Amino acid sequence: MIVTETEHFDRTAAGFVSGYIRMKPDAVLGFATGSTTVGLHRELARMHLEEGLDFSQVYSFNLDEYAGIPWEHPKSCRCRMEEQLFRHVNIRRERIEFLNGAAADPEAECVRFARAIDACGGIDLQVLGIGTNGHIAFNEPGTPFDSRLRVVPLAQQTIGDKSAFFGGEELVPRCGITMGLMDVMRCKRNVLLARGADKADIIRRSLRGPVTVDVPASVLQLHPQLTVILDKAAAAGL
Ligand code: GLP
Repeated sequence: MIVTETEHFDRTAAGFVSGYIRMKPDAVLGFATGSTTVGLHRELARMHLEEGLDFSQVYSFNLDEYAGIPWEHPKSCRCRMEEQLFRHVNIRRERIEFLNGAAADPEAECVRFARAIDACGGIDLQVLGIGTNGHIAFNEPGTPFDSRLRVVPLAQQTIGDKSAFFGGEELVPRCGITMGLMDVMRCKRNVLLARGADKADIIRRSLRGPVTVDVPASVLQLHPQLTVILDKAAAAGL
């Protein structure tokens, strides 16, 4: 576990991810969107520009996407990744895999995505954020630990948390398409990122409390290769 000052958080997270890329240039990376990872993506883009961090052999997957909105939607996870990272680095377009929230057949979309992960040999390093209710990806409280890629309804708390981002609660999509908890647990390494005082309680429950489906992130206690990067505010309850 790494606890940093808030002003060092993004650089610490980017140092971890970039270190992995330098060690394994054809790394299979899993990214996550949300406010927590904006600075990580910005810092990775800066490292590409200023330090030559090379994404040319990297494969990229993302954990989840809002269901029912197309990739062109400005709030889609895909659009956020394009704006924050992909368009700024030399990643090959054909190595970017993304769940399509507007797919006509979401089940087939999940099968396609799962096969793409398998074809790469699995995800080497998955970046995770955490919801204030303990969700990881869109696996809300109550999700079974053996859950796989699928479409899920968003919890009311998540809809509330995302309402400012979407410009109103009524504009927040009601469902997500997401990797399941078992898909996350199958990643070879996970790095969980959290910053800010509003994450302190759920970080404590996730890392120090019982492993329970009531707190989806608590399953990460069972992962053999978990790194947690927190700012001091998010670590305050530990
Ligand atoms: C969304 C995403 C998660 C992310 C979480 C945290 O719900 N589906 O993958 O971890 O938000 O968001 P934030 O970083 O904005 O707190």
